[in-house]
Amino acid sequence: MRFPSDTVKEIFLKNGAAPYCFDSPWALMIGAKFLGLLPLLVYPEEQNQWQLVTERSVEKLVCTTRKFGALILGAGAAGLLCATEAGKRGRRVAVLELADRIGKKILISGGGRCNFTNLHCRPENFLSANEHFAKSALARYTPSDFIALVEKHHIPYHEKTLGQLFCDRSAQDITNMLEAECREASVELFLSTKIQEVQHSTEFVVRAGSNEFRAPVLVVATGGLSIPKIGATSLGYDLARQFGLKIVKTRPALVPLVFSKKEQRLYGDLAGVSAAVSVSTDRQSFQEKMLFTHRGLSGPAILQISSYWEKAQPLRIDLAPHRDVISSLREAKTRNLAAARAAFLGVLPKRFAERWLELYAPHSWANQDLEKLDRQLHEWTVVPADTEGYEKAEVTAGGVDTDELSSKTMESRKARGLFFIGEVVDVTGHLGGFNFQWAWASGAAAGRAL
Ligand code: FDA
Repeated sequence: MRFPSDTVKEIFLKNGAAPYCFDSPWALMIGAKFLGLLPLLVYPEEQNQWQLVTERSVEKLVCTTRKFGALILGAGAAGLLCATEAGKRGRRVAVLELADRIGKKILISGGGRCNFTNLHCRPENFLSANEHFAKSALARYTPSDFIALVEKHHIPYHEKTLGQLFCDRSAQDITNMLEAECREASVELFLSTKIQEVQHSTEFVVRAGSNEFRAPVLVVATGGLSIPKIGATSLGYDLARQFGLKIVKTRPALVPLVFSKKEQRLYGDLAGVSAAVSVSTDRQSFQEKMLFTHRGLSGPAILQISSYWEKAQPLRIDLAPHRDVISSLREAKTRNLAAARAAFLGVLPKRFAERWLELYAPHSWANQDLEKLDRQLHEWTVVPADTEGYEKAEVTAGGVDTDELSSKTMESRKARGLFFIGEVVDVTGHLGGFNFQWAWASGAAAGRAL
């Protein structure tokens, strides 16, 4: 359907002054540039006379109001699951989405195969200022609940490693499934909907272009700030502030780290080399693979630790966890660079082993220097200059302060009828399907309470 206001904009953008005919609600409009304002001459059929109005008042006149039982902002993982749960319970639900399709992040997740949950999901797999907050929702919507949904839709899947479940075919199976569930629950999806303002009096009023949506309940599921190029916005945080809710400072998480200039010179050309390591901050440690990039470090071990890393803090990296490299050298008849090279090639990839010995070859082959070589290998200390930022981060840590929300329903304690779910909340999962599990669980918690 064409709206008169769209037509008005077209007229002004293209010509500044042009007559235009259309079906309804008015017969004719003429746009004209006048004293820097944009007045319009319109001829409403029902009034049978010409009127001079501004573009803004035309928009107001043609504004379409739609009433629902619940409005959900964001058709991502959390918003869609919440919508189906609420729809199944008989709520008339509308989901408003900025993008031209649902679940864009689901589609790019897990290398296109969506790591949709993790069999070993526990509260310890989540970061939050309140480590207990996520427990209730996670216990009431478990990985088995989501797996049951996946199996209901006959979606083939497999466990890759460490309990991580992926689609066999493509992530689109998950978005198709959620779309089908929405259809079954009579959820109405409004795509390409740019939200301009949200107000609350007796009910929530969301203005988007010439449309107005009203409902007694509003669920904010607009996700975090990561990957702005596919549509991440700060709307969720802005709304939280608008309604007086506190925000835990946001930061990029599950994100590659950037070397200092000096380290970039030393290791930048090792891009593509990976090694099984253990990486630690003061608080946390992960043992997984690490990957050199042109600018720094990535790979699962680094992405995991990045969620705990704070600027200027050192990372300790054990390059040969639980491996004794030096003892063979200590016991060797000939202690020399060739023997050291052989020992290092047993634990590190060739290019990295060679670079390491170029940089840290011992002054002598005495026990004391071998011990130093051993320490360096097991305690490589790196102080990253930065993260790769929201452009490359899988998630946003921090967000709506959980003290502001009910852990059972995700409803705001300050603004009744206002809910926050998914990544916008200060709950961040480890790598491996935990972030989706939080999106499903928090979405279900709210959906069942609407
Ligand atoms: P999500 O971001 O999914 O949805 C928010 C929705 O709100 C979006 O559709 C967005 O367009 C919409 N929106 C934003 N602003 C709006 C506005 N102003 N108006 C209207 N709509 C608006 N996790 C995991 O568990 N397993 C995995 O395999 C991966 N893989 C992965 C890969 C990559 C590259 C990324 C970036 C992230 C992952 N993740 C992941 C993380 C996972 O994608 C993320 O945690 C969830 O999608 C969060 O779900 P939400 O519904 O909260 O936000």
